[in-house]
Amino acid sequence: MRIDIITVLPEMLESPLNHSIVRRAKEKGLVEIYLHNLRDFSTDKHRKVDDYAFSKGAGMVMAVQPIESAINFLKSERDYDEIIFTTPDGALFDQKEANMLSLKKNIIILCGHYKGVDQRVRDTFITREISIGDYVLTGGELAAAVITDSVVRLLPGAISDETSALTDSFQDNLLSPPVYTRPADYKGMKVPEILLSGNDRLIDDWKHRQAVERTRKLRPDLYRKYSGEADE
Ligand code: 6GU
Repeated sequence: MRIDIITVLPEMLESPLNHSIVRRAKEKGLVEIYLHNLRDFSTDKHRKVDDYAFSKGAGMVMAVQPIESAINFLKSERDYDEIIFTTPDGALFDQKEANMLSLKKNIIILCGHYKGVDQRVRDTFITREISIGDYVLTGGELAAAVITDSVVRLLPGAISDETSALTDSFQDNLLSPPVYTRPADYKGMKVPEILLSGNDRLIDDWKHRQAVERTRKLRPDLYRKYSGEADE
């Protein structure tokens, strides 16, 4: 898979995409991630990428020219399956969307900034608009890092079997059960007896019941999806 990220702040993405699982996925050749500085595509002598909105008080808007130039440059090299724009008014990102994106070959993520982007960019180039939650970030970079992280860890080989992405919270609309490590008794705080029993079947049953109970309590919205699917 190849991910091209177009941003005015490439430095903001470097660290999150160069550690842990994402870094190892790159080293294993499972994914290539390229950061492109939008200013490099501006024809303005001051490398400007934004301009005043055509309406009073709307602030600065990302202009079409540098974005068109960046996207066309990338498209001239290869075909893209999706061109994503990160924006608080996009569709809410979830595990299903991450799964879907992890099956794509080439994607572009354009990071939103300022008061938004000229609507003509959205109408002409963008295939998906994504928000990572109902709150406002200073820019789309953190959202792009979140999307990339969640997609890359799903690529086959990115994580080991024990932590397989298939057993993640959300894959089956259930939160994960609680986990424990040694010691079995820490200053009187004990690990549930059943986990020390060595009976894998009973332990799996217990974990499932814990997952269902946690989801019902903490995320009634997810629980409804889970029990709806279990009924079908
Ligand atoms: Cl994608 N961008 C910004 N600026 N804020 C957000 C967001 C994106 N998703 C949630 N809040």
